[in-house]
Amino acid sequence: MTDLLLLPGDGIGPEVIAEVKKVAAKLCPDLTLDEKPFGGCSFDAHGTPLTDDALAAAKAAKAVLMGAVGGPQWAGAPRDKRPEAGLLALRAGMGVFANLRPALCFQPLADASTLKREVVEGLDIMIVRELTGGIYFGSPRFIEEIPGGKRAVDTQVYTTGEIERVSRIAFELARGRRNKVTSCEKSNVMDSGLLWREVVTELHKRDYADVQLEHMLADNAAMQLVKNPRQFDVILTDNLFGDILSDEASQLTGGLGLLPSAALGVAGTPGLYEPIHGSAPDIAGKGVANPLAAILSFEMALRWSLGRAELADRLFAAVVAALDGGARTPDIGGRLTTAQMGDAVVAQL
Ligand code: NAD
Ligand code: IPM
Ligand code: MN
Repeated sequence: MTDLLLLPGDGIGPEVIAEVKKVAAKLCPDLTLDEKPFGGCSFDAHGTPLTDDALAAAKAAKAVLMGAVGGPQWAGAPRDKRPEAGLLALRAGMGVFANLRPALCFQPLADASTLKREVVEGLDIMIVRELTGGIYFGSPRFIEEIPGGKRAVDTQVYTTGEIERVSRIAFELARGRRNKVTSCEKSNVMDSGLLWREVVTELHKRDYADVQLEHMLADNAAMQLVKNPRQFDVILTDNLFGDILSDEASQLTGGLGLLPSAALGVAGTPGLYEPIHGSAPDIAGKGVANPLAAILSFEMALRWSLGRAELADRLFAAVVAALDGGARTPDIGGRLTTAQMGDAVVAQL
């Protein structure tokens, strides 16, 4: 059985995954790795962003680590063949409904954020984003011609079960942290938001009354995140709001190049790990992408799917030591290349 399936993908994906391979070779040479084409490169080679073979390999591995997918060259592809559609199909196919996106401000990087040091210093937020439901997957969904133009429809759908299972993960995580969950929706305008609030409230009362629960409208949460981000511990939210709030949170920590993620399904099934950033077409091929989000996603895979928490601790400490030692790619104010940043981490292992 493969321990870790790598899906490097497009753009800077293969560049950052190459650094993960270096780290793995040093940290755990016994780990079995496999690799498959995925995203735009798979569309070019096989006519689909996610082949049956790649999905089967993902489900059969202990964990999957993706780089990034997408890019302007596939913007004209049919929507269901676009790299991003492949990613949604992978998440749905693996059943990874809970997306953990930690936003952590590393001490030496407190000045790398565009926000003031005193606002972000010591920040430690865990965003729990619902990942296999909501408007990303609802039907109907179409664009049609109407007199005088077109009409486009997307549908937001949530069931009690979908909300409850991701909320459980948020409450469980909070218990191991600062014991607070902030649930974000738009219950003031959306029926799915109303149901979200109702289900979270009920579950809290029934099973997690020891955890502090706060409800916050998602637009206010976006504002509070830049005003006073340290008020948050665990943020629980839906697929679309979680996508937006996590990109926002990344900037509190010094940027997208630093934020990893773990997507988890039911116990015993493989997790999907990915940096939250995209394929970054503007810097792809230049060798300057920050590989830390990918390396920290590997760290999460070691911890959450591969049963190697001790190695995860060592890797995390190595990343902190590299940053303490001044290792910086251009996105966080330095001059190291992608490979040099990978080397700086490896040197600390
Ligand atoms: P992006 O995350 O690719 O880039 C946004 C900005 O952040 C760019 O300026 C980029 O250079 C910078 N950036 C991102 N990652 C970086 C890193 N590791 N180091 C340094 N700088 C980094 O978002 P976008 O430009 O909106 O999207 C580009 C493509 O990626 C689109 O096709 C989009 O659909 C796709 N995308 C894929 C994923 C994924 O695969 N999980 C996530 C987001 C976007
Ligand atoms: C992310 C990305 C994806 C999302 C896209 C590429 C489908 O933005 O992982 O954050 O919206 O979930
Ligand atoms: Mn996103």
